Amino acid sequence: MAGFPPNFVWGVAASAFQIEGATTEGGRLPSVWDTFGRRPGAIADGGTGDVACDHVHRWREDVALIADLGVDAYRLSVSWPRVIGAAGVPNPAGLDFYDRLLDELGERGITPVVNLFHWDLPQWLQDEGGWLRRDTAHRFADYAAVVAARLGDRVGTWAAINEMFEHFVLGHVVGEHAPGLRLPLAESGAVAHHLLLAHGSAVAALRAAGPAPIMAINSYAPARPLSDAAADVAAAAFYDTVQNRLFTDPLLLGRYPDEALPLVQPVIRDGDMAVIANPVDLWGVNYYTVNGVRAVAGDIPLEVAPPAGYPVTAFDWAIVPEGLTEVLLTLRDRYGDRLPPLVVSENGCAVDDVVDAGGQCADPDRVAFLAAHLDAVRAALDAGVDVRGFYVWSLLDNFEWAAGYTKRFGLVHVDYDTQRRTPKSSFGWLREQIRLNRTAP
Ligand code: NOJ
Repeated sequence: MAGFPPNFVWGVAASAFQIEGATTEGGRLPSVWDTFGRRPGAIADGGTGDVACDHVHRWREDVALIADLGVDAYRLSVSWPRVIGAAGVPNPAGLDFYDRLLDELGERGITPVVNLFHWDLPQWLQDEGGWLRRDTAHRFADYAAVVAARLGDRVGTWAAINEMFEHFVLGHVVGEHAPGLRLPLAESGAVAHHLLLAHGSAVAALRAAGPAPIMAINSYAPARPLSDAAADVAAAAFYDTVQNRLFTDPLLLGRYPDEALPLVQPVIRDGDMAVIANPVDLWGVNYYTVNGVRAVAGDIPLEVAPPAGYPVTAFDWAIVPEGLTEVLLTLRDRYGDRLPPLVVSENGCAVDDVVDAGGQCADPDRVAFLAAHLDAVRAALDAGVDVRGFYVWSLLDNFEWAAGYTKRFGLVHVDYDTQRRTPKSSFGWLREQIRLNRTAP
């Protein structure tokens, strides 16, 4: 696995709501996920984020694990409802938590990559209209400025919003994620546009606050028609546009794909596209799978399923490492000089991991998954694509959104009854890969 460039960044990622818990402590306000998670049937196992991995109380232990893993960087997210109180007033106790966390990371030589929005909108902002409302984008920029003023001196890289596509589609169109809306497609465009506007406005605020580089983070997945039928081919093309270009074209080219324009046209105002296309320094790619797509009748005219012929993870996601190479090359070919250097900002898989009687947790499937995907990154590097780093999702098993605690993505197993952390065999394997890479001639 050696042979990555010497300054290649090895990282591990997590997000606030998925690990923090302590949702009512220190003045933290409810988020849309606290509310949505209490809807009967919304979360597979009825799990909530109330405790999650109890990271707010165990952060020191978790930073020690990150240090032990030997990564260069830790990608975390700040919880907006923890650091901003009602009516937009900063909450010092919430900011103090991240202050201590960043200090500890710094002391251990781990670079913090700080993302500002990983889907946990304050509920009070949702009550005012959430992302359907333009003002939410401005509130986000205000929040970014508050965090930058307090933490910016220790942030290695900023990110504004994680995976706009998932938050838009799962949260606002199909209703499987918070806030659980099922907007007609024609109305949903406002959400997409305001997320983009929020990103661009936050980039401006972060730039004004200091010199740390800024990364955009989006998910990408090639879309393949599940049959040769013209309807399936058209459905896959539409899905490809929405997942892979709806957010990326505006950010990098300053314009929406033609096919998506009718969705967003009514809410675009003069000057918006320039704000959205505020340049960033790094391009984060979250990659997990390739999607099969077929046309169906109904309000949402398509359905996604794993394409045939591939093994699948415990989440039933097709394992297609070469899809990652394809994504990286496609981005380079499609956006050319406009594309900043790439970073694989998330990659990993769900496995039904168990700790055995001897206290060990062997996860050879995850090791094979990560090894194959690192090879896929190497293939992109060999093809001349500028890839600067790789972040494993995730440090710990955690709250996997609508799947609750039923899907485990961690390099470290979490026993949710005891909060005991057990590094899996993938943890030691990754540590060894990083070491080998560093010592390679
Ligand atoms: C992407 C998301 O950013 C993260 O929150 C999620 O847990 C992983 N994918 C796995 O589904």
